[in-house]
Amino acid sequence: MRVSGAIVAQVLDLIGSEIRAGMTTLELDEMAEAYIRDQGAVPSFLNYAPKGDPDVTPYPATLCVSINEEVVHGVPSEKKIIREGDIVSVDCGAYKGGYHGDAARTYSIGEVKPEVKKLVEVTKECLERGIAHAVAGNRLHDISSAVEEHARSFGFSVIQNMVGHGIGSELHEEPPVPNYGRKNTGVKLREGMALAIEPMIAMGRSRNAISKNGAWVAVTEDGKPSAHFEHTIIVRKDRAEIMTLS
Ligand code: MF3
Ligand code: CO
Repeated sequence: MRVSGAIVAQVLDLIGSEIRAGMTTLELDEMAEAYIRDQGAVPSFLNYAPKGDPDVTPYPATLCVSINEEVVHGVPSEKKIIREGDIVSVDCGAYKGGYHGDAARTYSIGEVKPEVKKLVEVTKECLERGIAHAVAGNRLHDISSAVEEHARSFGFSVIQNMVGHGIGSELHEEPPVPNYGRKNTGVKLREGMALAIEPMIAMGRSRNAISKNGAWVAVTEDGKPSAHFEHTIIVRKDRAEIMTLS
């Protein structure tokens, strides 16, 4: 998991140094896929099919690139052009040696409105606070409530119908990791558990990310911007070990 996690982090570093206004989201995707394959790894999301939902087509790309009101699962396209003032959430997964790594970052393109910049900063802090609670002996929703409290203290809303997850030999494993919940509830965290913690935080009042007629992309209910950060971590005794650190 350290190996696959490092590859994911390197992809997100690469995207961070290359992303700029005028690029298409497909260009980012091609860059990411080439890098992952060069490392002898396989993109985790490409051809991913959620179990038990025959209506959804397998995911067609390496990255999810979600712009502004798009919360997650934006499908890269040559028609999607990144513009000055956008916030762009890039989610990446890589599989190598039998294990997955999964992480996301939201990039600001040029001059972004101050309140949107704040949203991005706070979402990153939500992830850090969540991770700080991912230690052996705590309970799962200690992570969730730390994320929720921080987001709400700035008046932002937590997307509730999309969650983090256990991760390992499968991209999505038990348990679901919500970004809201009550302290001191949920399963006991034990050393060695691997989790993908991924706050999705929105500026408006949106509680859900909605997708229309079979499309992958999920947007806020009110069209307000949303940010997303994710790390794959391992629960340890004193402090979680982050697999996808830059
Ligand atoms: N990080 C996201 C997740 O854990 C990305 C999944 S994209 C998918 O759900 F295509 F694989 F679904
Ligand atoms: Co994930």
